[in-house]
Amino acid sequence: MTVRKILVTSALPYANGAIHLGHLVEYIQTDIWARFQKMRGNECWYVCADDTHGTPIMLRAEKEGISPEQLIRRVHDEHSRDFAGFHVAFDNYHSTHSDETRFYAEDIYKKLKAAGLIEVRAIEQFYDPVKKMFLPDRYIKGECPKCGAADQYGDSCEACGAAYAPTELKNPLSAVSGAKPELKSSDHYFFKLSDPSCQAFLRRATREVCKAQPEAVNKLQEWLGEPGDNKLTDWDISRDAPYFGFEIPDAPGKYFYVWLDAPIGYMGSFQNLCKRKNLNFDDYWAKDSKAELYHFVGKDILYFHALFWPAELEQAGYRTPTSVFAHGFLTVDGAKMSKSRGTFITAESYLDQGLNPEWLRYYFAAKLNGTMEDLDLNLDDFVSRVNSDLVGKYINIASRAAGFIAKRFEGKLLHAHFTDEFSADLPGVLEAAEEIAGYYEARDFARALRRVMALADQINQFVDKNQPWQLAKSGEHADRLHYVCTALINAFRLLTLYLKPVLPKLAQRAEEFLNIAPLHWADAGHLLPPAHVINPYEHLMTRIEGKQIDALLAANRESLAPAAVPADTQSLQRHAQHQQQAEEKMQQANHISIDDFAKVDLRIALIANAEHVEGAEKLLKLSLDLGPLGTRQVFAGIKSAYDPATLVGRFTVMVANLAPRKMKFGMSEGMVLAASDPEKKTAGLYLLSPDAGATPGMQVK
Ligand code: MSP
Ligand code: ZN
Repeated sequence: MTVRKILVTSALPYANGAIHLGHLVEYIQTDIWARFQKMRGNECWYVCADDTHGTPIMLRAEKEGISPEQLIRRVHDEHSRDFAGFHVAFDNYHSTHSDETRFYAEDIYKKLKAAGLIEVRAIEQFYDPVKKMFLPDRYIKGECPKCGAADQYGDSCEACGAAYAPTELKNPLSAVSGAKPELKSSDHYFFKLSDPSCQAFLRRATREVCKAQPEAVNKLQEWLGEPGDNKLTDWDISRDAPYFGFEIPDAPGKYFYVWLDAPIGYMGSFQNLCKRKNLNFDDYWAKDSKAELYHFVGKDILYFHALFWPAELEQAGYRTPTSVFAHGFLTVDGAKMSKSRGTFITAESYLDQGLNPEWLRYYFAAKLNGTMEDLDLNLDDFVSRVNSDLVGKYINIASRAAGFIAKRFEGKLLHAHFTDEFSADLPGVLEAAEEIAGYYEARDFARALRRVMALADQINQFVDKNQPWQLAKSGEHADRLHYVCTALINAFRLLTLYLKPVLPKLAQRAEEFLNIAPLHWADAGHLLPPAHVINPYEHLMTRIEGKQIDALLAANRESLAPAAVPADTQSLQRHAQHQQQAEEKMQQANHISIDDFAKVDLRIALIANAEHVEGAEKLLKLSLDLGPLGTRQVFAGIKSAYDPATLVGRFTVMVANLAPRKMKFGMSEGMVLAASDPEKKTAGLYLLSPDAGATPGMQVK
């Protein structure tokens, strides 16, 4: 078999926030794949880094009273600790604030400039006269130009979902200083994506980069439009001082926008690894490189990785990615991670609660199928799958056989070859290796684990059929007992091998128990040698207890009492992390799929009570009876149109699975549906009602 040269990356996490379980979907996924490639004997390198530049990091450091360099150093330690805790084994974890990344950022910029693809244009933007800085969209607040909702950010409205330019906001204010922003002109540097050579390249090559995922190809198609649409406009790659980043070589006071140097951080991290391991950078990055390059990313940043990044590389004379693998977002119990429910779970808190990181690795792997679909961590399912599959089916095989081998046969396996008998008794256990490898290669970890668990079922049936505990009762079946237990130990070894990319620590302990060298995929071709001696068995993994999950949620639940930080700062923090990419937002499709629609749980609700809310201008507090689903409290902005007394006893339609939202007046646990004129030509609001006969809790489809 030829040895493939493979360079794998995960997206670089921002250096201003903690790693949470959502992030881990990506890092665990990439780690499993990289470990698999290494077990196959390929030369595979897995690199990552902290994404350290940009306005949010600069402001966060300022707020903490430290320098950005101090902040990113601390976060680098925290991130490294969290990743190690989940056995995410980067070959290098670097920083974009590094000499290597600066070198390649300047290099690529100079090459793009030499190719005539950099253009300088003056643009007008909001400027904070107090803070003396230009304001990214997410740092401008005002009233929504469409619906008038107060306190909305500069790029989109949380109340009505409208997207707009910050200059359209009514009564804008700087979220940094509270000052009234002024429009000010300044020179910006643009990468000319509209250039015909870029357009032609993008059309030709980016589809190739996404070919593994048809959903991603569709997205690209939407972004690129039809030839001649010229949907991709030039990309603004500069920001004015003050900014934490790299100053542009020939442009004092101008800095590379964080998304320019972020992916270049992949090169920087790899170059740094090359120095340590004596590797040749060009083998992996030169135009004619034969190595494979893969980027694992979330669907929110596909845009950057499938369009801007390949275009930069191509035009600067480097190789382009072999593939970008995009994944969906994590939900917990069917809803977005939420601080109020305690489901915004940090990596640190999970480990602090004493939960086993391999439980989560196993669960994520069991759900990852190589598509862009979102992935749900259902906490009940998590407990039952880990306990029944991982512990109940797999670990159990070892514990059922080990005692007999130790007590009856001095730790020694059967002194004979029996491959044919093994294959006849346990068909597939030895033979499935290549099939399972194929699923890992295709990133369909869910399928790989289903196959392994089917084998585990079969092995457990073999135990039940042969009843080793019965065989052990008298001396006359000793040979049979020895064979059965030897077969089980061998089967356990093979399953360990198949699970090793997912469960590296457990595999290591199993290897110690089995008294064997670290398993590689090629070891799947044979059984253990005759009369092999194994070590005494020590329990390899415990079950999860429900109360551990309760404690985890409690540890992550943010109190609903008024927070110590002003609400403003809180939501600012919440938004800061994604401010950077908000500027180049993913364009949304006009159509949704039936699956998208099916996600909305619409229900008939009986308005059991309705009352005014003291201090609220627009809201009524509704108590909604959903029959078997219980009662919900909802704050609805319908005060202008309805007298609460007339609502009581009425039926309406509500969205029942909307993530609960903490409002000033209490929790709102859903939304009632009402019609209104989007242009606001008439002020009316019209609550929906079902036809007679509908009862509380009925589903609306
Ligand atoms: N810094 C950028 C990436 C630059 S790559 C050159 C960034 N950072 S991030 O910290 O916001 O996200 C890092 C990765 O984690 C992204 O791929 C993102 O999609 C992923 N995830 C963050 N939250 C997630 C979930 N809730 N679920 C799944 N993946 C998530 O984006
Ligand atoms: Zn709005």
